[in-house]
Parts: sequence; C-alpha cells; structure tokens
Amino acid sequence: MGNAVIIGTGSFLPSFVLTNHDLEMMVDTSDEWIVTRTGIKERRICPRNMASSDMGVEAAKAACKDAGISFDKIDFIICATVSPDKFFPSTACLIQAKLGIKDIPAFDISAACSGFIFGLEIARSLISRDGYKTGLIIASECMSRLTDYTDRSICVLLGDGAGAAIVRASDAEGIMGSYISSDGSYGDILNAPAGGSARPASFDTVEKRMHFMKMEGAVLFKIAIQTMCEAINKLLKRFNLKKEDISLVVPHQANLRIINGVAKSMGMPPEKFYVNIEKYGNMSAACIPIALDEASKKGLIKRGDIVVTVAFGGGLTWGANLIKWAK
Ligand code: UT7
Repeated sequence: MGNAVIIGTGSFLPSFVLTNHDLEMMVDTSDEWIVTRTGIKERRICPRNMASSDMGVEAAKAACKDAGISFDKIDFIICATVSPDKFFPSTACLIQAKLGIKDIPAFDISAACSGFIFGLEIARSLISRDGYKTGLIIASECMSRLTDYTDRSICVLLGDGAGAAIVRASDAEGIMGSYISSDGSYGDILNAPAGGSARPASFDTVEKRMHFMKMEGAVLFKIAIQTMCEAINKLLKRFNLKKEDISLVVPHQANLRIINGVAKSMGMPPEKFYVNIEKYGNMSAACIPIALDEASKKGLIKRGDIVVTVAFGGGLTWGANLIKWAK
C-alpha cells in the first residue's frame, strides 16, 4: 500500500453570480474586453455570512460522499488557501472542528494558486512515506475579500469557491509524482502588501487599499506560460512519458490566453486542457480541485487515464502533479 490514489472529489461554488455586465456598472470595463483578454464571463461571490472554512466544509463533505467514506476515516487535513478565515487558527483546523473530527493533524499551506498541487504532493508523501491512510486535501478561496472592486485590472479576474479531494493509501499507481518549485525573488509581482507582520493593519494601510491583492499582470503572463510548461516537461521526463500519454491537463484557470499559450508551447491540442474559467474566473488554489471534480463528474477522466494538474501563482510558486486516475 505504498501509493496514494484519489478516491473522491468534491466542490462548492457559492450561488451568487457576478457577471461581466455587473462589473461594467462598477468599473470602467466591458464584457468584450474581459472575454477577449481573459475568457471570463462570470464568477461566484461568497456570501458575507460564509468564509473560506465554510466553503471548504461543503467541498469536503461532497468529496467524502463521492469517496463513500465517513469523516472519522480521515487521518489528516491539509487546506491550501491565501484567504484564510483568520491568521490562526488555520483554516484546516476550523474545517476539522466543523466536521467534528478529533485528534488528527490539520494544517494550512500557503502556495497561492499552486496550493492544491503542493498539498497533493504533501499528502502523497504523508501516505507513501509516513504510513497515513486517508487524507482530506482542500483548497478554499474567498478571493472577493482580497479584491479591490475599484481596480479594474484585478477585480474582473477573481472569484470564490472551494474544491477537495480524498486521497487514500493503495497498491494502485495513483498520484505518481509531482514537480513543485518556487522563486521568492518575484514575490512583489503578486501579493497583498499589508495585513501581516511587515505592514500590520493601520488607518494608513486601509486608506491606501494595501490589504487588497496587487499584481503585475503582463509580467506574470509570460512567467506563467514558461513555468507551467517547465513543470509539465520535467514531470514527463522524470516518468519517461510523452505528451501524447497525457489524457487531460487540468490547468490553473488564470487566463484562457495563458492556458492556450501553454497548449501551444507544449505542442498539444487545446482540447486536452480542461477549461471552466468562463464560469468561475480565477479562484486561486481552488481552481484545480474544482476543475478536477467537474471533469471527473462529466466523465472526461476515466480509470487508467494520465491526468496532469499544473499551476503557477504568488510566491512565485509553480508545479504539476502526475496522476494515474484510479477512481
Ligand atoms: O493566478 C495567477 C495570477 N494572475 C495572473 O497570472 C494573471 C496574468 N496576467 C493576465 O492574465 C493579463 O496580463 C491580464 C488579464 C491581467 C491583463 O491583460 P493584458 O492583455 O496583459 O492587458 P494589459 O495589462 O497589457 O492592459 C492592456 C490595456 C491597458 O490600457 P492601455 O494602457 O493599453 O490604454 C489597461 O489599462 O487594457 C487596460 N485594462 C482594461 N481595460 C478594460 C486593464 N484592465 C482592464 C479592464 N477593462 N478590466
């Protein structure tokens, strides 16, 4: 039982839809600009009475149901988020409490949009190396709480949602391996400048809107394509696979032009890349588990398929998981 396989997936999308036409009334933008530059048509917004942990709980319940397991079978919880309910306790601990699970490790990881990929790799090593049996990996993001709805360069991109996967020890191949990497020297091009110990909240930070996410979009655009291709290529090389062996790529949904750019640079048909950005926009770490869940439920991933997840994000971080679908 030295391997880790995904036995269930689940997701939660808040019901409130913010369309491009709604945004036209808030900032100087147009549906035409947003669709042609990003591929996004609408995104979901978390209601005020919910936070990341609440969305994560719903996604976790759906994943457990899909896997056919009860909460007491979970041996650890990892939550990827850059929009935690609070600095501490971790969102994973809040989710643990809401699910009523006791005496297991639960912790958050901060790898921005690559968070679920990092989380899946940590889960794989906990299971294959440390003897844990069943893990719950969640990515839950309330990006609307970090969004400046007066900044048209950002507010059209982001949305809220949560996705989860149950990973279990198995003899089957499952999560074959991952490539994960970071380059902290690019930290400033995608960040929330205030609110932490470097710039704690003050009248000044609030007045200067420094608690909202800032981004150098054009710089990121190029790095995104390069790093996502690098991650896929390194994984394929390590496992002696060809790009033709990949059944489906589940990429981070930051921009349709980035996804198509990766497909083009890889010399792969764009149809091999799962896309749902038009419905949800960029939900940071939650994009990949939500897309995995959708693709699986639509029957686009079958037992034995090779699935590659790939993302890049704040940090900068980037990475990919190579998964032999065993569900
Ligand atoms: O999850 C990871 C983090 N996010 C990303 O990786 C995002 C990566 N970057 C991108 O997706 C793209 O760079 C953006 C979608 C953010 C921007 O697209 P772009 O094609 O790079 O546009 P740009 O920033 O070069 O701006 C082009 C023009 C500018 O006007 P001028 O200077 O040419 O007159 C912007 O002011 O578009 C303008 N613009 C807008 N116009 C209408 C920027 N945002 C908007 C907007 N509506 N929402």
